[in-house]
Amino acid sequence: MVNRTSKVKKIGILTGGGDCPGLNAVIRGVAKPAHDNGLQVMGILDGFEGLVEGKVCELYNKDVSGILARGGTILGSSNKGDPFHWPEEFDGEIKIKDRSKAALRNYEAWDLDALIAIGGDGTMHISQKLSDMGMNIVGVPKTIDNDLEATDQTFGHDSAIYVVSEAIDRLHTTASSHHRVMVIEVMGRYAGWIALHGGLSGGADVILVPEIPFEWDAIYDKVTSRHMMGKRFSIVCVAEGAKPKGGEMVVKAKDMKRTDPIQLGGIGELVAKNISENTGLETRFTVLGHLQRGGSPTPYDRILSTRFGTHAIELAIKKKFGRMVALKGNEIKSVWIKDAISKQKLVHKEHQTLLAANAVGVSFGVEEL
Ligand code: F6P
Repeated sequence: MVNRTSKVKKIGILTGGGDCPGLNAVIRGVAKPAHDNGLQVMGILDGFEGLVEGKVCELYNKDVSGILARGGTILGSSNKGDPFHWPEEFDGEIKIKDRSKAALRNYEAWDLDALIAIGGDGTMHISQKLSDMGMNIVGVPKTIDNDLEATDQTFGHDSAIYVVSEAIDRLHTTASSHHRVMVIEVMGRYAGWIALHGGLSGGADVILVPEIPFEWDAIYDKVTSRHMMGKRFSIVCVAEGAKPKGGEMVVKAKDMKRTDPIQLGGIGELVAKNISENTGLETRFTVLGHLQRGGSPTPYDRILSTRFGTHAIELAIKKKFGRMVALKGNEIKSVWIKDAISKQKLVHKEHQTLLAANAVGVSFGVEEL
């Protein structure tokens, strides 16, 4: 059985789910102090997939040197490696199996005293279940979507909104030169934080988020009235999960190997088509896609990731397991993983940032907020 009494000497670390800027900075933030405290650090490859399939390598100091600014993850990641929802293909048919015992076997065989799991909502759900099976887990919240209630911010979000903001700056020049409506579709899944923060910082005129189903006429009115006022262009920032009142989210594809099979995408194109057909204004759309997840983390994310990583190893050394590091105000604290996964953080109509955007004239695609 897993030993909770002796000193922590050997830890594992993995990155789960979609990649995002700052993962390597967390790995470095965990490994450097771990080495300084005489701990051995094992890097588990490709997220939980590596834990189930036994893919591991030791991380030495040289491996975590010079990776602070590097995007992606040196460990690899996967969003299909849920040990409790393990897809296997038989005769072209996907069967879902429970491989959690294999994950526990490897954890014990590698003699790990703790596992640092870096990931989003999905990773934290898996972590909680593995923790219930006896693994000593410390979670670190990652996601460009920023949709974890338990932390004021996840790392990766700031880098994503920097990309959105810069992209909108670029779209502005074509929008104003050609007097066009430019629609930009951004990520975020079921939460509108990327659209709200990226759209506001880029100066979008309309921001559509999943939490506020929009009215088509409100969008047409906004872009036409701007045109009539002599502002002959508009920028519309659409979250991939945005949907019209009474309508559904636009699903691009389904991947049954994933715990959540839905792949969103396509609403930007639909919004652009409808604006063009209903207002007569020349309209173009851009889907920003994975550009939002790639590249080097912003200084804010490098700092947050480092603070998260160093706090996570401190928790592991102190044997405060089953906890996830979290930003609360300006301090790094920790919360129970089981509490962290109980609530998704969504944009609401009274949020100060949304109200500030509205006060400077941004439309959320509704006649009244
Ligand atoms: O959760 C991060 C995220 O980038 C979402 O914003 C997006 O819906 C999803 O992952 C895309 O996943 P994938 O990289 O598997 O297409």
